[in-house]
Amino acid sequence: CGIVGVLGNHEAAPLLVEALKRLEYRGYDSAGIATVCEGHLDRRRAVGKLANLSDLLVHEPLAGKSGIGHTRWATHGAATIENAHPHRSGPVAVVHNGIIENFRELREFLAKAGMGHATDTDTETVAMLAQYYLDQGLAPREAAKETIGRLEGAYAICLLFEGENDLMIAARQGSPLAIGHGDGEMFVGSDAIALSPLTDRITYLEEGDWAILTRETLEIRDLNGEQVSRAVKKVSIANTNIDKGGYKHFMAKEIAEQPTVSTEVLNHYIRRNEIVLPDAGLDFTAINRLTMVACGTAFYACYVAKYWFEQVAGIPVEIDVASEFRYREPPITDGTVALFVSQSGETADTLAALRYCAGKADKIVAAVNSTESSIARESDLVLPILAGVEVGVASTKAFTNQLMTLAVLALEAARQRGRLNDEQLAERIAALRSLPGLMNSALTIESRCEALALKLAEAKDILFLGRGIMYPLALEGALKLKEISYIHAEAYASGELKHGPIALVDKHVPVIVMAPRDGLFDKTISNMQEVMARGGRVLLISDAKGIEEAGDGVWESLVMPEVDPFLSPVLYALPAQMLAYYTAVAKGTDVDQPRNLAKSVTVE
Ligand code: G6P
Repeated sequence: CGIVGVLGNHEAAPLLVEALKRLEYRGYDSAGIATVCEGHLDRRRAVGKLANLSDLLVHEPLAGKSGIGHTRWATHGAATIENAHPHRSGPVAVVHNGIIENFRELREFLAKAGMGHATDTDTETVAMLAQYYLDQGLAPREAAKETIGRLEGAYAICLLFEGENDLMIAARQGSPLAIGHGDGEMFVGSDAIALSPLTDRITYLEEGDWAILTRETLEIRDLNGEQVSRAVKKVSIANTNIDKGGYKHFMAKEIAEQPTVSTEVLNHYIRRNEIVLPDAGLDFTAINRLTMVACGTAFYACYVAKYWFEQVAGIPVEIDVASEFRYREPPITDGTVALFVSQSGETADTLAALRYCAGKADKIVAAVNSTESSIARESDLVLPILAGVEVGVASTKAFTNQLMTLAVLALEAARQRGRLNDEQLAERIAALRSLPGLMNSALTIESRCEALALKLAEAKDILFLGRGIMYPLALEGALKLKEISYIHAEAYASGELKHGPIALVDKHVPVIVMAPRDGLFDKTISNMQEVMARGGRVLLISDAKGIEEAGDGVWESLVMPEVDPFLSPVLYALPAQMLAYYTAVAKGTDVDQPRNLAKSVTVE
């Protein structure tokens, strides 16, 4: 979920809606705002996309220069109007991101005091608790202090009070919160991007901080109630630019940006034939194990990188999805470096996994797109992936830039460990440098992907096959397709298919085989033959020679440029993305904001 707050000199409603638009990547199940106008607190809420709230505000406007807003990704309670934020209890309105873990206990306490709940949400109890303390005669800031002191869980909240035109209270515990400084104005947002049209002067709250804001003042108190001072940072507006640039969807634009943004990684980390990391403190010769943890697409980037670190650098690598990692209670032994990969840097599962490793691992490294994120701030070493703002919920350019960054890191590890001499390193770097150009040629098969997608869109199930380093890419291809086209898709290691999943194959199931001509090509093609022998319809993705060598009988093929096998997962991500994109377009789904998903999931 995303939250925003405005104590301004202009009407707050349009500013809140604009800021929420920039936070819609955090969820779009419902949205709402509340304002105080001449002391009077009121709110408007709508289910579904933000546009529904905008429509509502045209018919039922909300005046006032102070306000809070929220865009929701449903956790407790369905996406209904009652469960939409802001929640209100008498003179208090609250917006909240995260989970109040002890809300049942608080609800019981409030019930005993004669206050019944009206919604299914945990958030409502925050507003009720604040009202309870106001009823006890406390002033708003005291009531807020008592309320915040009783909340357990991970949250960012923002409170607004009836009768208070110039007061807002915000608190952070486990979910990020940024305070924006204007001229005689003050703002609150889940991130700096939300606030970028309003100000570029940002103070990030630390864990446990809560802030009392007026238009002219900002007072921050820490966990112990002590007043603290937190720096004001200037954020770069260029990093917060959001527009479709003439494309129909953000996803299409972001796919097309890959040759450009991948160049950013090369420029940032490579000088001539030397790899330059932001910190000299990472000694790969002292590493016994690399533990990589992430969610979703970022996890598949780790999965690809596992092959690189093991094959090229000879480092044992463990990978895990963040939501499982710490519950295995994996022992973190000496010489372990823990690497967390996250586009947003705010994924709650990944952050929790990072905190599990903090103090145990030799070093905590983060590869993130958002360098001001919680994951970045809690890491010893931050590797920016430099993809620029990614809006489409289905990750594309962030994935390839995660791969680029991890490839650079794996090469540096191999160099340090004496597994690549200067000449070999230069060869690998040359291959990396050729990728943006190869991506440009891979983008030229777009219209082929569009045509094939019309056929794929008719399928109910689609299988992806890959072997070796292409297996994780097959997983990513299936995920991309599921996310945006809602077609059931699964990926298998091509050699594993015969051990069970081949039972799924019939003429109705397209099987997409990702087979660059690498050392495993022949084996993958044998597996492909097994599929065809059972009537399966194969879409083969390979280069021209590969397609020729594979022989007759494939249903369709996609011709890719030739690429160094080491880097084929980066290049083959593009057809996987384009097939998913055009299949979704053919099905008429909401490509940039697919149902049930959010770009950044800030609850565990
Ligand atoms: C969400 C998104 C996925 C994304 C995952 C990890 O589930 O829908 O597309 O891959 O989070 O996000 P992160 O920001 O940590 O890379």
